[in-house]
Amino acid sequence: MCGIIGYVGPRVAREVVVAGLRRMEYRGYDSAGLAVIDAGELQIRKKAGKIANLAAELDHDPLADTRIGIGHTRWATHGRPTDVNAHPHVSQNHRIALIHNGIIENFAALRLELEAQGITFESETDTETAAQLLGVEVAKGADLAEAMRTVCGRLEGAFTLVAIDSTEPERLVAARRNSPLVVGVGEGENFVASDVAAFIEFTRSAIELGQDQVVEVTRDSVTVTDFDGNPAPTHPFEVTWDLSAAEKAGYDWFMRKEIYEQPKAVADTLLGRFNPDGSLKLDELHIPEAELRSVDKIIIVACGTAYYAGLVAKYAIEHWTRIACEVEIASEFRYRDPIITGTTLVVTLSQSGETADTLMAIRHAREQHAKVIAICNTNGATIPRESDAVIYTHAGPEIGVASTKGFLTQVAACYLLGLYLAQVRGAMFDDEIARVMRELADTPPLIQQVLDGLDPIKALARRFVDKQSVLFLGRHVGYPVALEGALKLKEIAYLHAEGFPAGELKHGPIALVEEGIPIFVIVPPQGRDQLHDKVVSNIQEVRARGAFTVVLAEEGDDEVVPYADVLFTLPRVSTLLQPLVATVPLQMFACELATLKGYDVDQPRNLAKSVTVE
Ligand code: F6R
Repeated sequence: MCGIIGYVGPRVAREVVVAGLRRMEYRGYDSAGLAVIDAGELQIRKKAGKIANLAAELDHDPLADTRIGIGHTRWATHGRPTDVNAHPHVSQNHRIALIHNGIIENFAALRLELEAQGITFESETDTETAAQLLGVEVAKGADLAEAMRTVCGRLEGAFTLVAIDSTEPERLVAARRNSPLVVGVGEGENFVASDVAAFIEFTRSAIELGQDQVVEVTRDSVTVTDFDGNPAPTHPFEVTWDLSAAEKAGYDWFMRKEIYEQPKAVADTLLGRFNPDGSLKLDELHIPEAELRSVDKIIIVACGTAYYAGLVAKYAIEHWTRIACEVEIASEFRYRDPIITGTTLVVTLSQSGETADTLMAIRHAREQHAKVIAICNTNGATIPRESDAVIYTHAGPEIGVASTKGFLTQVAACYLLGLYLAQVRGAMFDDEIARVMRELADTPPLIQQVLDGLDPIKALARRFVDKQSVLFLGRHVGYPVALEGALKLKEIAYLHAEGFPAGELKHGPIALVEEGIPIFVIVPPQGRDQLHDKVVSNIQEVRARGAFTVVLAEEGDDEVVPYADVLFTLPRVSTLLQPLVATVPLQMFACELATLKGYDVDQPRNLAKSVTVE
């Protein structure tokens, strides 16, 4: 949700900035812009639309070769995505250029105050208020860092700010509250960015900024203080992946590449987390076992695809641990006065680790004395930092806006947590845990097997390219898989799609079934007799009403054959593990359909990868 980069060093700043923006375009693509300082003056270029528009503008009207620059790619909140509303914003005295990620909640009052002082605003944005405030402070004689601290003290809401002052061509100053910012530490050059992907080409040494901190960056120094100017602690870390992981490697879309990375992503998530005897070791879970034994309720809190991963996990966690487990949409959580006590364990799932709704939910949970475990894919992000413990998913960078490997690895990590809780609490026999762990460890080649057999799904996308609506049915853990299949179609193929629990169909949704409507059905393994047979009946019900059925069932399941217009076979796994194989064809179906429709799969309209505003 907005990508930010700043650079100071010997390279040509505009080139570094534009390259960084391209790598962060998944965060927002409504408009883009950059600012440099040339001969004591700010130079700005900004354009509505994708970074390609900005690049064309730079070709047409080049910027000077400078050694300092800041750039921004926007996901609009306040003000439409126009050239004028694009960042950077400049103070009236033309000294400050500012980029911002987040929402300044009290901007209207501040704007009125500034207008009363004779300041004229150019844009409709909340960001310009901060640019003008900085301009006023430096005009009074404050240096840029002092000005930033003063201004941050006046702002309410969520913000990452990066500013340059035309009188100081050697330094940029940034600040953060509730929105992400990392510093990239190079040799004789330094970076700030929303995401390490922006500077991974140049350095893998990074510093994660804490809450309410200001950082001053020159080519040779990085100085971090709190908003009062006191030196502040920093969290240096090394990025464990490299540039190639952040590039498409020959695929047409990041999403497709990430779908194909899933066997490795799941294997890496499981790696090193169990002993040869099959027992689990979650060394990173720094919560005393006695506390884990006293847990009497688990609440999983997440958004979107991560929420669906949580819905899958609930079945397994309750089954293995016998602890009641609720799953809650993070944006609803704290507004309904949830019942949380010191013995509640809150588990958050977040690929990015920056989702504002999830962050606010965990803050609320911790205020109520719950222990919070984050399951996260992004090292050093805000959500894991503010949690009591973290289990990282090790999926590598997920850049396609539609989450794929994020989902599978979240399910795998939740399963590790569920089994670990069962182990600590003695809720399962050791050999049972070892058996499930072995089965879990065996899933990556089975996911690969699914990937190797996706041709029928691709053909199906060609057949359905003009359909107006698609339904997905599942039961038990197949229900969240159905929801996820529908979400993928909505977000990248802009197609009406719904996921339903198959048994709920006759209570209303079956009225949607008409001649030719495609209905995907996830069939539980045959071992679960009752559930399997009931879903087979549900397939017959919709087929009798004219639906075109696409049936996903395990290999050897002959019972479904007569009712499947198209049959996609899944490898044999137990019911609880089926989402790890059954979700993959649905991801690919959405990717194919969106590609055929000519949509931008990696950057679907109105969306952003990391949703850092509530
Ligand atoms: C859907 C999707 C979103 C995210 C959601 C949570 O494909 O990507 O629904 O799953 O915004 O994001 P994280 O996991 O980063 O908290």
